[in-house]
Amino acid sequence: NLPLPAPLLGSKTGTFTEYTVTKRMPDIAHRVIKENNFPPEINQNLEKLASELKNGYLQPLKNDHSIDFYHWEKYLEIHKNQRWLDVPWFLAETYFYRLILNITNYFQPGKNHQLDPFLLQKEQGLEASIDAIIYLCTQVEKWLDDSQKQDKPSKSSLIALLYFSLWGNRVDLSLWSAFEENRSSFDIQTQLTNILVDDSFAVTKLLTKSAHNRIDIVLDNAGFELICDLCLVNFLLDSGFAAQVHLHLKPHPTFVSDAMIKDVHYTQEFLAAGSHPQVKSFSKRLNKNINSGRLVLQEDYFWTSPLAFWQIPKLLKDEFAKSNLIIVKGDANYRRLLGDLEWDYTTNFADIVAYLPTPMVALRTLKSEVAAGLKAEILTELATIDPKWLTNGQWGVIQLVH
Ligand code: F6P
Ligand code: MG
Repeated sequence: NLPLPAPLLGSKTGTFTEYTVTKRMPDIAHRVIKENNFPPEINQNLEKLASELKNGYLQPLKNDHSIDFYHWEKYLEIHKNQRWLDVPWFLAETYFYRLILNITNYFQPGKNHQLDPFLLQKEQGLEASIDAIIYLCTQVEKWLDDSQKQDKPSKSSLIALLYFSLWGNRVDLSLWSAFEENRSSFDIQTQLTNILVDDSFAVTKLLTKSAHNRIDIVLDNAGFELICDLCLVNFLLDSGFAAQVHLHLKPHPTFVSDAMIKDVHYTQEFLAAGSHPQVKSFSKRLNKNINSGRLVLQEDYFWTSPLAFWQIPKLLKDEFAKSNLIIVKGDANYRRLLGDLEWDYTTNFADIVAYLPTPMVALRTLKSEVAAGLKAEILTELATIDPKWLTNGQWGVIQLVH
């Protein structure tokens, strides 16, 4: 029932939003051209899209017979003849990714059918983090052994895994290389300092209450972040914190690295194909959880739409109502939770997301000018110590609402 602020817009000069629409999005379109082998007419259309973002108008979507085509016609109706800079940023970005697929004939039968234009980046992300993957999988296998011996799940391991899942969302892997060098003396406290709101302990309190927990995770990126999330999943399922986990994935490629069902399978096979025994047993565990139906992979076009979280379709909302906890990962999903609106950063987070039927925890590193639930003193401090705190991915939140 709160009055809704204005949406973030690319036309606001000097903002990271403007920079994204005018610079980062054209760069992404160019990278799609470079990393794929599309025929010249497709590349020309991608080039045209890239050049339109800075000052041009939204182009219509050709009917590509995808399930969401008519939905998009509706979403776009009120934005006809508007510039990319003047439509809500969240719509600009989700439509940009949808248009790339429209241009590359992703949904049509033929050579490019279901060809992921970001595949190379996803695969490279995974390969680049192999050392951290070995470390993490080994750690989780050990924690699971320990929890079996102790006959009760360990809360401190769960908190550590929530931190991994949070920091897996960080912009780059710099934290991970530092972490690697220092792995024996790794201290959880060092990860704590950059967490602006940390409700991880409250999450562990919530999760021990019921024996038949279902946990839903709205996933974000494939690659290293997905590994961190799958570590959390394996731990939740095999330590007794959860009886069932549902993963919510994107139905088509979007936001470059966002995970789809096929990316989970690819990741599982990637882990299985390696030679490291702990990683192999981790991947077996994952496979077993998928095959037994305790780990459910589901996709919905809501997750690639420009809609705010409170516009969630009834079917999906009913699904969430059966869950004990929804974990919402990453920056773009957080923006959806807040409708990508210009909330005052001190607005009570729980008041904004009061529409959810179930307890929810957001694990997000900050990469956009959207925030809520922060203390005024923290804002003052951040302004002096790190003027780029909102967008540089160095700061995180673990915000629980229940
Ligand atoms: O850096 C900005 C951005 O590209 C946003 O457009 C988007 O919100 C986010 O990053 C994607 O990050 P994440 O994968 O955490 O959702
Ligand atoms: Mg993402």
